Amino acid sequence: MEARFWEDKWENKVIGFNQSTVNPFLKEFGNYFKESTGDIFVPLCGKSIDMLYLQDQSKKNIIGSELVESAVIEFFNENSIDYQVQAKNSLKVYTSSNYQLIQGDIFQISKDQLQSVQWVYDRASIVALPKAMRKQYAEFLIQNVPQANIMFILFEYDDSKKLIGPPFSVTSDEIQELFSSHYSIELINSHQTEPKRPKFVEQNIKLISENTYILKPLT
Ligand SMILES: C[S@@+](CC[C@H](N)C(=O)[O-])C[C@H]1O[C@@H](n2cnc3c(N)ncnc32)[C@H](O)[C@@H]1O
Repeated sequence: MEARFWEDKWENKVIGFNQSTVNPFLKEFGNYFKESTGDIFVPLCGKSIDMLYLQDQSKKNIIGSELVESAVIEFFNENSIDYQVQAKNSLKVYTSSNYQLIQGDIFQISKDQLQSVQWVYDRASIVALPKAMRKQYAEFLIQNVPQANIMFILFEYDDSKKLIGPPFSVTSDEIQELFSSHYSIELINSHQTEPKRPKFVEQNIKLISENTYILKPLT
């Protein structure tokens, strides 16, 4: 997706992906993050309130990555959190006592900015990217946070007749293909629902699985 695509979504408030309550699977499986001895990285974070929950549960710092500046500012303002801003190359770093949101293209973030990370929380992030970018994203995680465990909460559905997305369908085979060289992969939950969003209904998609995976680096 081009940057303009996401900027338009945020500008026009077409942000159906943004949850008004904490993700139920994060709540169910949030204990994983209590184990964290380091920071938690939330790629493609939007203004997700899951970040507040993660911080509260783990008492660790949250490092988010978000392309669109208004989303970052809305996160701080809507949650009444004071912040400071610093430019770093093509990125802007918004910092408060427990949160550091890095605004700009995730692929411009350097390894040293993420060295404190021990967990990655990806809810609706990998599914926001088209296939070629998903490969780039997997390589980015393997290169830049090789030490970290990952939780994915993602969607899988039948897109064989027509490519629909975002959110794109990410299959278990694709997760294996992208990550099995570096991680053990466990599907810990699969929840099926009937989609209500018009773009799925119009394509006659009857079932959508919301799958939760835990990836741990191979030692
Ligand atoms: C589908 S939304 C998911 C947001 C969040 N994970 C949530 O659960 O609400 C994807 C987000 O990724 C951001 N994004 C897209 N491409 C990006 C990139 N290259 N770098 C950083 N953020 C990006 C978009 O602006 C959007 O806010």
